[in-house]
Amino acid sequence: MKTSKGWRISIGDMQILPGSRHRAPMRKPMWIIVLVLFVCVFLICAYIYPPHSSTACFFSSRGCKGISAWLPPVPARQYTDAEIASRAVIRDILSSPPIVSKNPKLAFMFLSPGDLPFERLWDKFFQGHEGKFSVYVHASKTKPVHASRYFVDRDIRSDQVVWGKISMVDAERRLLANALQDPDNMHFVLLSDSCVPLYNFDYIYNYLMYSNISFVDCFKDPGPHGNGRYSDHMLPEVEVKDFRKGAQWFSMKRQHAIIVMADNLYYSKFRDYCQPGLDGRNCIADEHYLPTFFQMVDPGGIANWSVTHVDWSERKWHPKSYREHDVTYELLRNITSIDVSVHVTSDEKREVQSWPCLWNGVQKPCYLFARKFTPETLNKLLHLFSNYSTP
Ligand SMILES: *[C@@H]1O[C@H](CO)[C@@H](O)[C@H](O)[C@H]1NC(C)=O
Ligand SMILES: *[C@@H]1O[C@H](CO)[C@@H](O)[C@H](O)[C@H]1NC(C)=O
Ligand SMILES: *[C@@H]1O[C@H](CO)[C@@H](O)[C@H](O)[C@H]1NC(C)=O
Ligand SMILES: *[C@@H]1O[C@H](CO)[C@@H](O)[C@H](O)[C@H]1NC(C)=O
Repeated sequence: MKTSKGWRISIGDMQILPGSRHRAPMRKPMWIIVLVLFVCVFLICAYIYPPHSSTACFFSSRGCKGISAWLPPVPARQYTDAEIASRAVIRDILSSPPIVSKNPKLAFMFLSPGDLPFERLWDKFFQGHEGKFSVYVHASKTKPVHASRYFVDRDIRSDQVVWGKISMVDAERRLLANALQDPDNMHFVLLSDSCVPLYNFDYIYNYLMYSNISFVDCFKDPGPHGNGRYSDHMLPEVEVKDFRKGAQWFSMKRQHAIIVMADNLYYSKFRDYCQPGLDGRNCIADEHYLPTFFQMVDPGGIANWSVTHVDWSERKWHPKSYREHDVTYELLRNITSIDVSVHVTSDEKREVQSWPCLWNGVQKPCYLFARKFTPETLNKLLHLFSNYSTP
């Protein structure tokens, strides 16, 4: 509607312009030449100023889209040397066939300040599955005292972690680098000290090992806690259209772990320009680096949701923490019955983005792990574990 009105107005303007100069009624051929000229100038303008620059948007945004659709594609931005190199390496890693292991293992990587309160629950979970998993612990504050044999001697060399800062991403990368040392590790799960398993070992092993994608949380949030944290200093490599958000608790395939290790270019952009309090923005590196990175280099290779459940429904600064009285068979069943992933934007629209949790094309429960459980819930979880963890 608006478009056709826009056309009419501009044709009208054009009639007036030459008309006012000559003062005499125009003859027909002149008319056509002017019209053709005008259309040519318009097309050249539209081509030089691509639709995203507002100068080309004479009409509504719908009109812009319509015009750009039948123009030749606007040449893509020229990549920098570092980007060309980085993209070549990443593309090659992603297109080479995955290494096959005779004994594929799941790497469980725990990020914790110190002790892991649920080691006894994890012990129950791992029991009988020796050889199909490996454990890595990054304890950033105090050396943990281990309650389970599966965790003894599994601490990696660690460093301080400051919430929201790049040191959180550094700890994740340190865990990945250590876990990659074992060529049998095929899928890598990041967990916290407050995480618990929702299923038995076999279910989780099969779910992750035979998934053709990684589970990295990723969505587009135009609000203040999403794009509001983006800084133009990240240009030209990281554009706001690719900026994404997501919880840090990922699980990823070996090839994806390797491209994360291979990346220095995009990582350094987030290290330098995504920090809490920088230029008045509260950018949390661990919530943006990996979602944005995967959005740019392999968007189809990630699920866009995390297999770790957390309850944000209270809309506070921190997610809901489960206390002893909260932990019931019903609560755990409720969490495992969720098969739709939901994200809400942080702008005033509070747009709800939801999509089914598809596992190799089949809708399945979204979550394999859950947080945040307080240490006092351990005994109740131990008691309930064999009941709730059977799919
Ligand atoms: C994840 O989202 C991206 C767009 O941001 C999309 O291209 C991709 O297909 C999605 N992944 C899956 C598995 O649907
Ligand atoms: C479980 O889900 C049902 C239905 O949504 C809800 O009524 C109930 O309160 C939930 N229970 C717990 C313990 O979360
Ligand atoms: C994963 O499998 C599904 C179903 O077979 C398919 O639609 C999808 O394209 C696959 N994704 C990748 C990244 O191979
Ligand atoms: C586990 O499930 C069985 C059968 O459904 C039930 O009899 C038993 O009381 C449950 N145990 C717990 C701890 O909930």
